Amino acid sequence: MDLERDYLLQNYARYPLVLARGKGNYVYDIEGRRYLDFITGIGVNALGHAHPRIVKVIRDQAAQMVHSSNLYYHQYQGPLAKRLVEMSGLTRVFFCNTGTESVEGALKMAKAHGRAISPEKSEIISLENSFHGRSIGALSVTGQPKYRADFEPLMPGARFVPANDVAALEAAFTDRTAGMIVELIQGEGGIYPLTHEFAAKARELADRHNALLIADETQCGVGRPGTYFAYQRSAPVILPDVVVAAKPVACGIPLGFIITNDKAAAAIKPGMHGTTFGGGPLACRVALEFLDILDGLMPEIQKMGGYFHVELNELARKHSFVKEVRGFGLMLGVELTVPGKQIVLDAMKDGLLMNCTHDTVLRFLPPYTVTEKEVDQAVKVLGKQFAKVK
Ligand SMILES: Cc1ncc(COP(=O)(O)O)c(C=O)c1O
Repeated sequence: MDLERDYLLQNYARYPLVLARGKGNYVYDIEGRRYLDFITGIGVNALGHAHPRIVKVIRDQAAQMVHSSNLYYHQYQGPLAKRLVEMSGLTRVFFCNTGTESVEGALKMAKAHGRAISPEKSEIISLENSFHGRSIGALSVTGQPKYRADFEPLMPGARFVPANDVAALEAAFTDRTAGMIVELIQGEGGIYPLTHEFAAKARELADRHNALLIADETQCGVGRPGTYFAYQRSAPVILPDVVVAAKPVACGIPLGFIITNDKAAAAIKPGMHGTTFGGGPLACRVALEFLDILDGLMPEIQKMGGYFHVELNELARKHSFVKEVRGFGLMLGVELTVPGKQIVLDAMKDGLLMNCTHDTVLRFLPPYTVTEKEVDQAVKVLGKQFAKVK
């Protein structure tokens, strides 16, 4: 901690906890204290820690080849792309390393799609309260002034509308719109699901104005909502043109991806986009293993997500300062009328890791392997902390 204070850029406000290792759904600090991990490295460690099948493929692949670059083929990008295409209902994949990078690639895709139609067709519609990453492009479409203010002026042509405001969405779309980016469940913004009506209208308007609809599933996708992707929750499914995701797909090895339909894919020609690290053999092989395991876990995600949601509602009923419980599957938020930070710190002392977003929303991103007993344990710690709130 002392060295970090002296030598690291002071951009993080870390919790006072030094983690040493993890096993299953628990992590341990350097003094050996155990914590139930209900934040999973912000939605990354979906199989908990040191999952035996993941450890095995990492060991095996590390001894064979970690990185090869995109100059050459390797055995795992093709099969993984096929798998993601089958999961998504779309047709082509690009691999990168992070959520931000996948958003960045999707924005380039939308801009190139627009530009091929008209030089004026370059606007991107996004939502207020959204979060899409910290690069200049991703920040430009992030609808939270606190992240953007210090870096203005950003990319021109970003327009923001309030989530679930159909009239504002209709007013924002024009023939200058190249694309629209949405989180079907806003994560950093405080776990806010979009309504089916709003998503359907976004699809309709994107079609009418020949713009690309981009679903940012970095936090709300890849199994977490109890379906492969959050857009698959609605019936009928509202299929985006482009899906971007990252976080859990390679269990902590950095891997992001973009999945597109043929129309969006046609915007990117040879040489227009690329990456050195993205889609390496280690990350892709781990992702294939993860997706194999995910299929078996899907009913559990739905069951445990439902159980946790019910238990949180029960807590909400007992405490008037709990405003609302929101989310789907294993992406749940509890909005309070009081600040959440102290509750997070006190729960940590009691062996539970979660975090707080937007000052008043307790955020839970438990591992997909969570058990009923662990949910009970988390609810017990929360109940104890809630009882102390004045
Ligand atoms: C919806 C969404 N998009 C993009 C990002 C950025 O992802 P990364 O931090 O992997 O670059 C995040 C990160 O939390 C996110 O929640």
